Amino acid sequence: MKRTHHCAQLTSTDLNATVSLAGWVDSVRDHGGIIFVDLRDREGVTQIKFDANCRAEAALLKAESVIGITGKVELRPAAMMNKNIPTGEIEIDAASLEIHNISDTPPFPLDDAGGDKVNEDLRLTYRYLDLRRPKMRKNLQVRHRAAKSVRDYFDAQGFYEIETPALFKSTPEGAREYLVPSRIHAGQFYALSQSPQQFKQILMVAGVEKYFQIARCFRDEDLRADRQMEFTQIDVEISFIDREGIYSLFEGMLKKVWQDVLNQDLPTPFPRLAYKDAMNRYGVDKPDTRFGFELVDFSDTFKSSGFKVFASTVAAGGSVKAFNAKGLANITQGEIGALEEIAKSLGAKGLAFIKVEGGEWKSPIVKFFSDAEKAELTKRLALEDGDLVFFAAAPWERACAILGRTRLEAAQLLVKRGKMTIRPDQWNFLWVVDFPLMSYDEERGAFAATHHPFTSPVPEDVALLDSDPKAVRGQHYDCVLNGMELGGGSIRIHQPALQKKVFEDVLKIPADVVATRFGYMLKAFTYGAPPHGGIAFGLDRMVALLCGTTSIRDVIAFPKTQKAQDLMTQSPTPVTDKQLKDLHIKVVEEAK
Ligand code: AMO
Ligand code: AMP
Repeated sequence: MKRTHHCAQLTSTDLNATVSLAGWVDSVRDHGGIIFVDLRDREGVTQIKFDANCRAEAALLKAESVIGITGKVELRPAAMMNKNIPTGEIEIDAASLEIHNISDTPPFPLDDAGGDKVNEDLRLTYRYLDLRRPKMRKNLQVRHRAAKSVRDYFDAQGFYEIETPALFKSTPEGAREYLVPSRIHAGQFYALSQSPQQFKQILMVAGVEKYFQIARCFRDEDLRADRQMEFTQIDVEISFIDREGIYSLFEGMLKKVWQDVLNQDLPTPFPRLAYKDAMNRYGVDKPDTRFGFELVDFSDTFKSSGFKVFASTVAAGGSVKAFNAKGLANITQGEIGALEEIAKSLGAKGLAFIKVEGGEWKSPIVKFFSDAEKAELTKRLALEDGDLVFFAAAPWERACAILGRTRLEAAQLLVKRGKMTIRPDQWNFLWVVDFPLMSYDEERGAFAATHHPFTSPVPEDVALLDSDPKAVRGQHYDCVLNGMELGGGSIRIHQPALQKKVFEDVLKIPADVVATRFGYMLKAFTYGAPPHGGIAFGLDRMVALLCGTTSIRDVIAFPKTQKAQDLMTQSPTPVTDKQLKDLHIKVVEEAK
């Protein structure tokens, strides 16, 4: 039976037409004499009436069965019209019914509201049912639109889409990798590509000039709402470009995607924020700027305070920072306790606070504060009745991180109380720039690349590489949207001598290791490497924000659970001894 229309198409202008529809039974209502079926396909729902014809077969139908019907378009009786759907004025008087499949009763309701209430594991086990829900179908559609829009944009700008290998070699300095044993080379392994980084740089040496790829990447990370073990990047590399060129290229891409998907005009250029300022003001390098609660530094105020915790922190070179969680003085003891736990997990010794209530400061520490200190707090935090101040005293970076997180949690508490709105469709994009090129890794006792080792230093800082590596700024940039890191990239090193120096002298990777891991790249750079730079955007994260969801699992057709399992296909699984033998692998049972 060939379909003549889809299920959102027919209206009163089609009266008396003979049509054929096909799809899933959304619901069956048996009114004794007449059976009504809401027939659903990808596009919508149409009401089918089984009156005289095929009533007996229609009586067999259950929700989610697959059928095809032919019949005549009729006007519904006035009282039964539904103005909320495009097909609400009509119904089809069925002349014939073809039953393709009778469905078992689904394990959970397939409407948006019902499906949202069930456990996500159940949804993932029956993902094919979950994806029938209108909301999930819409997410898949948005993902398709966004990817198409990205491809069209780069095509129009003269980029080539080029695939790079998923099977790469192991380069253990990034995230943890997935290893793939070689059957042909016993004891040797490929690694699944964490990103096309090295290949895309080589493509620049190859003279491609403008590359992009919607690339699958693999990282053996602990999974979270915004992280999967396999995810998709919009990956780009360009020759003869500077940072400004990258910013405007990507502002253009995002403008087009927002236009194509949401029909919204994004204002550009996006604001820029130096890493130091982002940390100082928001306590993170990916600030959500949709609300205030900015952090204020009080190190100077408290350097000789009667409150020893603060004074001694400043004396030891640390910082005292605070912010005003405006209107949250009615926080409960339980909520404070939960925030303290979070702060402690970030290395806080405590999370001092002051509630301003009834003209009084309520806090166990306020007795230690001088009048001058109180006046300074009142002025710089604009304190008013009903406010709540949080403090962190710790080394600078940790104090930032503690309050950065507390700031987000405090905002959520106000949202929960209905005292604040954070709109998911307010698009506060920004570029975070001027990251330090290196950060000191206490564990290894050496510098590690903040981004990756291919990022070029800011030209005027190159001289500091030997004398003060910590002070060197990288030509790295992150694109942040509403507290989420959407993308990151950099202008790269293209001079082989400088790249070698960064590997060996700054990152202290032994010369022989550099030679085996990156030798091919250093060699490629000696044959005419153009200056180049690029960036990668998380497609999953971008689509999640476009769909108004906080979990990228909602915009990936078949995601893994937090426990890194695919519940539908039941993977991972053990494999046969024969398979292991072919791969020269022995599994050692872990001691119980
Ligand atoms: P980076 O590691 O910052 O940079 O990754 C770029 C973007 O990819 C997304 N992303 C993820 N999304 C989902 N799950 C994950 N596990 C995950 N990890 C990263 C984020 C992130 O901003 N080669 C460099 C880019 C470059 O320099 O051009 C790179 O991969 O949105
Ligand atoms: P204490 O004098 O240690 O009992 O601390 C008094 C108050 O200050 C308590 O509310 C602690 O949670 C808080 N506090 C202690 N150390 C710090 C710190 N490093 N930063 C912020 N608050 C702290």
